[in-house]
Amino acid sequence: MQERPAEPIQPTEERIAKVIARAGVASRRDAEAIIAEGRVTLNGETLASPAVNVGPEDKITIDGEPLPSRERTRLWLFHKPRGLVTTARDPQGRPTVFDSLPEDMPRVVAIGRLDINTEGLLLLTNDGGLAKVIAHPETGWTRRYRARAHGEVTQADLDKLRNGVTIDDMEYGAVEATLDRVQGDNVWITLALKEGKNREVKRILEHLGLQVNRLIRLSFGPFQLGDLESGLVEEVRTRVLKDQLGQTLAAEAGVDFESPVREPIAPFGKPEKPAAERRAPADRPPRPRTPRFEDERGGRGGRSGFGDRERGRGRDEAPAAPRG
Ligand code: URA
Repeated sequence: MQERPAEPIQPTEERIAKVIARAGVASRRDAEAIIAEGRVTLNGETLASPAVNVGPEDKITIDGEPLPSRERTRLWLFHKPRGLVTTARDPQGRPTVFDSLPEDMPRVVAIGRLDINTEGLLLLTNDGGLAKVIAHPETGWTRRYRARAHGEVTQADLDKLRNGVTIDDMEYGAVEATLDRVQGDNVWITLALKEGKNREVKRILEHLGLQVNRLIRLSFGPFQLGDLESGLVEEVRTRVLKDQLGQTLAAEAGVDFESPVREPIAPFGKPEKPAAERRAPADRPPRPRTPRFEDERGGRGGRSGFGDRERGRGRDEAPAAPRG
């Protein structure tokens, strides 16, 4: 087995586990396990340790197969439950979004974050370039939320948010907010924002004297939470993703819609999560499928890759405010 010393990383070099993860065949942690199992060669020699840097010229194989250069760009919708943090590893050891994903998902990143107590739609992708472009404020994709908050507010108060608001020197852009109903000491409000700043909904509503006690993201750009059950993921088909992105965003993100989709490689002995854990229980009656995007044909308009339709209420947006 080859023991190459871990040297300082050159600009063109990266840790081998990172390179394997980027190729989409395993998470970084699984790549390290696969290396420890002696299944990876570097330039013809079996590696014993992941503490190795590699560059573009190095030849890597896993189980005798060359490392594929790139995986197809993919996007998933995840219905995030409360209580999960949107970070790869939490210093406080709290459960993460990534811990809860099916074992057979490739390595993915979240497109933006939701707070630990926020529920609803989180977009996941295996393509860092796509994540960056979608989350970028200039892309202007609308994030739509439903919030339950303690306190009193009028529609006239909410209308003032249309001009944007500055809170503690932080500027928030225009917010479309609708008072849906009053429920005891709480109000339910639907909000549409285009930014993605830290705790933006909570801070904006706090500014109006409200305390948010439930927050659900209903949609992000053209993608809708719809009736996707809490804790489940659903992949967006390549054709739909391509249409919804449009050519401009696809080019900016440097997406790859041509390469094949690969099955991830698992370390030996790693238990597979049973399919039942990943999907809705089989004894539940099937729900009618509703599309989770607003316009499959991808009307074009500006950077967003879809037209003004995105700004209207989606036909399959979560309908009534959830009870509770
Ligand atoms: N705004 C918030 O306050 N929290 C979120 O998780 C998302 C938007």
